[in-house]
Amino acid sequence: IPVNPFDLVLFGATGDLAQRKILPGLYHRFEVGQMPEDACIIGTARSDMDSDAFRDQIRASMKEFAPQFKKDVLDRFLKRVSYVSVDVMGDKGWSELAKSLRPDVVRAFYLSVGPNLFSNIAQRLDENGLATPDSRIVVEKPFGHDLASAKSLNEGLRACFKEHQIYRIDHYLGKETVQNLMALRFANSLFEPLWNSNHIDHVQITVAETVGVEGRGAYYDQSGAMRDMIQNHLVQLLCMTAMEPPSKFAPNSVRDEKVKVIEALEPVEPKDIARGQYRAEHGDDGYVDHVGNPSSRTESFIALKVHLGNWRWAGVPFYLRTGKRLRARESEIAVYFRDPPHTIFPNVGPLRGNVLVIRLQPDEGITLRTTIKDPGPGGFRLSDVALDMSFADALGADTRAPDAYERLVMDVIRGDQTLFMRGDEAEAAWAWVDPIIQGWEERGDRPARYDQGSSGPEEALMLLHRDGRRWRQIGG
Ligand code: BG6
Repeated sequence: IPVNPFDLVLFGATGDLAQRKILPGLYHRFEVGQMPEDACIIGTARSDMDSDAFRDQIRASMKEFAPQFKKDVLDRFLKRVSYVSVDVMGDKGWSELAKSLRPDVVRAFYLSVGPNLFSNIAQRLDENGLATPDSRIVVEKPFGHDLASAKSLNEGLRACFKEHQIYRIDHYLGKETVQNLMALRFANSLFEPLWNSNHIDHVQITVAETVGVEGRGAYYDQSGAMRDMIQNHLVQLLCMTAMEPPSKFAPNSVRDEKVKVIEALEPVEPKDIARGQYRAEHGDDGYVDHVGNPSSRTESFIALKVHLGNWRWAGVPFYLRTGKRLRARESEIAVYFRDPPHTIFPNVGPLRGNVLVIRLQPDEGITLRTTIKDPGPGGFRLSDVALDMSFADALGADTRAPDAYERLVMDVIRGDQTLFMRGDEAEAAWAWVDPIIQGWEERGDRPARYDQGSSGPEEALMLLHRDGRRWRQIGG
């Protein structure tokens, strides 16, 4: 079903994210007919260029990042694209931009730029009369560096836009499996009665990456894994896993429940934190070389044991870990159910509990570890099998899995904020993160070194060993 006609103004249109994700995402929505033929995309950036040069840049990006495009569809799509050079710190380009907007269609301003420009652009949009009461403003992460900066970003945006117009992107919320977690929990009757501390032993959330921080050193070394990944993506995954059932699938019902989860996060003790930094080896540069800071204490890996102070999750640890240059690119939420209380089967040790694994990437799907009898007449032995549901199989092998951005940009046009972070949510996450970071800075903690292509530092393994548990193997 096509969304309503719209004008989308993309700030930072020549930047990496716009070229790699946002514009190809819009193309794909156009190809399937969801972006209407009379929608307009107006790219803006500081560079002086005309619309033809901008279209050529998109063509080149499509070849690199979405090579399966259809040439005739791309030609039609590019007819909907134009470019205006705008100086967001000065006066140049604003009146031309104003002229290119239509009064009677949905209007969205997508700020694919650094957070230092958010307030400024919001103010210029307001002063130049571009922001209508119904227009939307979309901002990318990082949404601040700490609580104070997040508050000031919120103030800057809210000075010109109302909360219902502000869309803070966390692209993990646009991932198909994350949304499927909602369906799994709230569209089935099987799981919810078991979804609490009576039946769940612990939860492991892993976002492992093989990439390093090459080329992003300036940003990354000021952030580290805690700010770059935990404060946003992993906290969001935790919220989706742990929240109470919202009364309806509507933006504020869902976000109210997520805020409650974040507010229930307890302070984390130093012994429950393991930080790491990948080392140089076999002639490969290490983290400190990539960021150009030999004395850096920033973590490229972190594992945390986290507790939620509420009735549902009392005593259930949530183990979070994320890192760069690990063995495999793998993201998943693994819910470990309690072991059966008693075994009736002789000659087998204690039975192992079921594990429900929600795989975000690669190969999105859901797996349930189940214990069965080994087939055949050779005695009564038990083994584990996986009840496995891969979305690719379920959808048909040639169905392309839409990228998170496709879903999120269309939600902006539809005016649906369910999968976007609310201002108080972002602030609550920083309020939990800030003291953890302050703690290790005050103690002068150094991250442990880990091998590239490993599962992270030994300390992260110990975090679970100590509790008599083990991480699921990365790349296993
Ligand atoms: C970004 C982080 O938000 O998410 C990156 O800044 C990280 O450091 C990326 O690599 C991971 O996203 P995805 O979709 O590739 O898992």
